[in-house]
Formats: sequence, C-alpha cells, structure tokens
Amino acid sequence: MADEMQRIALARRPSGDPVPDDFELKTETAAEPTPGEVLVEVTHFSLDPYMRGRMDDAKSYAEPVPIGGTMTAQGVGRVIKSNADGFSEGDMVTGMTGWASHAVMTAEGATRIPEGVPPTAVLGVLGMPGFTGWYGLNDLGRPKSGETLVVAAATGPVGSMVGQLAKAHGLRTVAIAGGAEKCKMAEELYGFDAAIDHRAHDDASSLRKALAEAAPDGIDIYFENVGGKVLEAVIPLMNTFGRIPVCGMVAWYGGVEDASDRLPMLWRSVLVKRMAVTGFIIADHWDRFGDFQKDVAPRVMNDEIAWREDIAEGLENAPQTFIEMLKGGNTGKQIMKVI
Ligand SMILES: NC(=O)c1ccc[n+]([C@@H]2O[C@H](COP(=O)([O-])OP(=O)(O)OC[C@H]3O[C@@H](n4cnc5c(N)ncnc54)[C@H](OP(=O)(O)O)[C@@H]3O)[C@@H](O)[C@H]2O)c1
Repeated sequence: MADEMQRIALARRPSGDPVPDDFELKTETAAEPTPGEVLVEVTHFSLDPYMRGRMDDAKSYAEPVPIGGTMTAQGVGRVIKSNADGFSEGDMVTGMTGWASHAVMTAEGATRIPEGVPPTAVLGVLGMPGFTGWYGLNDLGRPKSGETLVVAAATGPVGSMVGQLAKAHGLRTVAIAGGAEKCKMAEELYGFDAAIDHRAHDDASSLRKALAEAAPDGIDIYFENVGGKVLEAVIPLMNTFGRIPVCGMVAWYGGVEDASDRLPMLWRSVLVKRMAVTGFIIADHWDRFGDFQKDVAPRVMNDEIAWREDIAEGLENAPQTFIEMLKGGNTGKQIMKVI
C-alpha cells in the first residue's frame, strides 16, 4: 500500500527575514522507490542557516528551491522499503531528505549510519557543520599556539567546533554569542577563555572595546560566521598576517544596511595587514571529510569535544523553528524531530 507523507514546501520567496506564510505544509502520497532506490521514513532533519539562501532566486553556489519544491535538508531515518542492493528495511541512513516525513533516496545518496554513533550526530558535530568548523579552522585559519581566535555564533555547531579545536591547538579563544546563557555555555561547556554578548552592545565601537579587552594581543584568526556589527568591530583589531576564513554572514541573510562608507577601511586593513581572507563552501572539500572523521570522531566519542543539540518536535513546526534559529533562538545544533 502507498504511504502517505508530509512535506514543507516553499510557498513564495521571502522578502527580508522569512515569515510563516513563506512555507506550506503539504500532504501527499509517498513515491515508490524504483530499482536502485530506497524509501526512508525520516526521524530527524537538520535546520541550517544556509537554507535561507536557497529560498532566494539569486545566483549562488547552489540552485534555489523552486516555488512548491520541498525545502532542502540533510536528514536521518529508517529504510522502510528497499529496492537497492546493500540496503534492508530497518537500516538507519542519512542523506538529503528535505523537510519531509518520507524521502526516496538513491543508493549513492544514502549513507548507512555507523553502529554506536548517535544518529543525529551526523547532522551536527560529526557531519557538515562540524566538518565546516574543522576544515575552515585548520586549512584556512592555520592556527598556531599562542595566537588569539575570535568566533561568533560560538555556541552553534560550527562555532563550538572551531573554539574547541582552537583551544586544543593552544590558542586564546574568544566567543561572541547572543545573551548571558550562551556566553556562560561558551566558557563553561566549550572552554572559551572569554565570551562577549553581542546583544549587550548597540554598536560596533562598543563591541570593539569589549573585544580589545578580551583579546589584549590582537586577533590572529577571525572565523567569520556572522558579518554585521561583529565584523566591523573585529577588523581594526586584526593582527598583521591575520587570517579570516569566511564561512557565513548570518547577520545579513535577511538583508543588509548600506555599509559602503566602511568599505575603504575594510579593504585598506586587508592590504596593510596582509590578511588572508578566504571564502569557502564546504561542499567543495568533501575529499577532506575522511580526515575530519578520523581526527574528530574519537574525540567526540571520548567526550573531549562537547556538543549540544536543540531538538524541536513536529514537521509542521519547522518553519517557525527555522525563523527563530536565524535570530539565535537555538541553543546548540538545531534539529527537527519528525517522529
Ligand atoms: N561556508 C560553508 O560551507 C558553511 C557551512 C555550514 C555553515 N556555514 C555558516 O556558518 C555559520 C554558523 O552556522 P551554524 O550552523 O553553526 O549556525 P548556528 O550557530 O546554529 O545558528 C546561527 C546563529 O547565528 C547567530 N546570529 C544570528 N544573527 C546574528 C547577528 N546579527 N549577529 C551575531 N550572531 C548572529 C545566532 O547565535 P547567537 O544567539 O549566539 O547570536 C544563531 O544561533 C552560518 O553563517 C552558516 O551559514 C557555512
């Protein structure tokens, strides 16, 4: 008998920050897996800031979600019908499920979750976000003991990985996070040497004063997750030969204010301080994923690397959870639990 499924479709393209009416919950009949495919009952899927970019019809590194199309996401779930060699009913797999209760995946697109690994970890600390922090810090940040690192969105899955790895490399680590609770978490759980609440500072110059105190020797690596006021505060504090892996700019995903008057300051700093400012998209670097797993998985399993998840329930609540996550509503890796 055909299975009924639900999915969250993109109803229209948002203007600025997304709102609930930009999404639509649809109930349909699940597709049958053709030869070489499996049908997966999705238990959890990931909500990530990059999904905001997929809602715009703008030229980018990936195609936008079409209107009426299912919002994109990596998920985990159980195979309930297999038409593919090597997969059986009951296997736990991960792949691109979208925001949906069921997904058909090709055998190539489905990866079995190793025994002993908590399934949702492959969406965060041991998956794309953790790998992003590891790759950006090690390959582009080139950390050296005694240096100072600053990262914002510091308690999220990317920032918390960056902070913990940098600390293990012997750097002074400074977190920027939203609110007292997240700052406490940054210091106590993720071991940052200092944490600054960006919401307690109305403008870049006030935030810069706090940063200068927390980073008295200047900043060698600014791991860029957010842009906005934080970037503006950081730039004058960067040391000569500083590195800025440009990973994301979540403060600007819903729109930008005119900052053209600050462009000359930014560009001059890059030049005179001979900074390495390198944008990267982690999908270009999957050849390094095995190295990441070898390095990080044992450290996660023996609790050397801490990680937290924020699990919201119900497919229908995904749009609101996503909207809140973009504004800092999540404490830890944001995941939706479907069943
Ligand atoms: N380049 C790549 O391939 C790649 C891959 C994965 C992720 N990323 C990027 O990495 C960044 C972090 O991702 P994540 O998954 O770890 O996200 P996350 O930390 O779970 O969630 C985003 C966080 O951004 C912070 N934020 C939102 N608006 C802000 C603002 N105006 N100023 C400062 N902080 C703000 C909020 O934390 P607070 O409450 O602490 O402010 C929020 O919790 C994002 O920019 C994402 O797009 C890039």
